[in-house]
Amino acid sequence: MNDSYELLDSGAFQKLERFGKVVLSRPCAQAVWRQTLPTLDWQRATASFFRDGGNQWRGRDRLPETWNIEVDGTRFLLSSTDFGHLGIFPEQRDQWQRIREVCQTFAKKHGRPARVLNLFAYSGGSTLAAARAGAEVCHVDASKGMVDWARKNASLNQLDDKPVRWIVDDVTKFLERELRREKTYDLVILDPPSYGRGAKGEIFKIETDLPKLLTLIGKLMPSDPLGVLLSCHTPELTPISLHHLLWQQLGSRGRLDHGEMQLRGTSQVLPVPSGSFCWWLGE
Ligand SMILES: C[S@@+](CC[C@H](N)C(=O)[O-])C[C@H]1O[C@@H](n2cnc3c(N)ncnc32)[C@H](O)[C@@H]1O
Repeated sequence: MNDSYELLDSGAFQKLERFGKVVLSRPCAQAVWRQTLPTLDWQRATASFFRDGGNQWRGRDRLPETWNIEVDGTRFLLSSTDFGHLGIFPEQRDQWQRIREVCQTFAKKHGRPARVLNLFAYSGGSTLAAARAGAEVCHVDASKGMVDWARKNASLNQLDDKPVRWIVDDVTKFLERELRREKTYDLVILDPPSYGRGAKGEIFKIETDLPKLLTLIGKLMPSDPLGVLLSCHTPELTPISLHHLLWQQLGSRGRLDHGEMQLRGTSQVLPVPSGSFCWWLGE
């Protein structure tokens, strides 16, 4: 069996996914349809995660402590967390592909690497995509544990010697500091949570704090920016909501492209919508 990612089935508010040799069933609020595979296939999952009655795993002892998978040429270190996350959001894979493309095109056009800022950077999927495409990356996350995880992913992909700054900080505080230092970034990527906490417990609420963040980001961009990629999993923030936010904050001088992120398997498997994205690309 190969070490790739694959959505196997979904339905009845659950998703069944293969991460290399490991098959997991986990909750999926958007899967309002019925399951396609027989119940036996679901029961054969290596482990299952439930939220009813508090977060809990069944069969967690059957999972390796850590294991690796490869998604479109990038390797990821996985491990089961108490929150049901594994260290990867595979629905981002189309965005990672596009990050690589826009960074490569930028370097060809400008004769220098793009300067990329990755906020709420988690285990670093977008950082790895940009670094693979030769960009200079600044990776920011409030959790030291997640920054360490992202650094391990960089090592796993032989990207240790690439120009990546690893920052453990609250996103808003970091942006304010970069503004005072008069830094600019060609491409800003952000995947904010609905609710989060900064490195010193600063509270982040997407509905009130995201517009403020985008204003700061606008000030950190050069006069000819490459763009902004905004994504999230907050149900109220649909692709059109993200479009309107970016359009109002960054203006109509760029091209906007929005859509739903999706988990995918083979062509017979129904894709699962998993959050929203919007690109704003400067002209
Ligand atoms: C990738 S985002 C959210 C992923 C996905 N969009 C979701 O909603 O589940 C989560 C990351 O943001 C980080 N984070 C949360 N609040 C933060 C803050 N105020 N400043 C910096 N990072 C923060 C967390 O440590 C975590 O790694």
